[in-house]
Amino acid sequence: MGFNHLARSYHLLERVVFGDRLQRARCAHMETFLQAKQILLLGEGDGRFLEALLAEGCRADIVCLDASTGMLDLAEKRTNGKANKVRFLAGDVRNFCLPQGFRPDVVGAHFFLDCFREEELVDIVGSIACGSMPGGTVVITDFKLPEGSRVRRLRGRLLIFVMLVFFRFFAGISARQLPDLSNFLAKLGWNCRQKALFDHGFISSWVMELPGNKRS
Ligand SMILES: C[S@@+](CC[C@H](N)C(=O)[O-])C[C@H]1O[C@@H](n2cnc3c(N)ncnc32)[C@H](O)[C@@H]1O
Repeated sequence: MGFNHLARSYHLLERVVFGDRLQRARCAHMETFLQAKQILLLGEGDGRFLEALLAEGCRADIVCLDASTGMLDLAEKRTNGKANKVRFLAGDVRNFCLPQGFRPDVVGAHFFLDCFREEELVDIVGSIACGSMPGGTVVITDFKLPEGSRVRRLRGRLLIFVMLVFFRFFAGISARQLPDLSNFLAKLGWNCRQKALFDHGFISSWVMELPGNKRS
């Protein structure tokens, strides 16, 4: 079980449900990535963010870690010839070692952390913090229950419920509910430096500072 058999249809499914809104959210903080020397992309999937990043002229060393070899193959093909500073690693974020000498100053996690239960997230974000450069940042893009009118909240809840059931059934994700990522990370001492909202707040992208790295 995993994302392998969803890899080829993932882009189409996304476009049918969300149009280009998820890709716009992934790219919302592109300037943060472009300033980085070493970038870790967690659960990068089929490589559409990576492709956009390279098209912007990113010169950083990049490691893409994903548990799905199907997704990694697509990402590698998509960026074929443009990705000479990119390493594609197959592995589970809950149990991985970064290559020697690689200590990212920016970590990207787009629509990834919502695959896990909160108990797992404590360890995952702990190892992100340990493995990153002091002063580093993490860009997280994910769904969030929208505020506002009842219709909007209802639509958000319904879509999240359907997505969780779908990915639990077809990809075996462990999440049972959508984590409130911004609150969860704030409680662990992470500081939100920038935020971009899409689809009336249903999709958010946050630039988070690692704990202990707060600037005045
Ligand atoms: C919902 S998809 C998101 C893909 C992409 N980042 C995006 O923006 O659409 C989740 C991705 O995380 C990967 N993934 C899921 N569980 C993982 C794990 N435990 N370790 C590493 N990657 C994992 C999946 O293979 C998939 O590519």
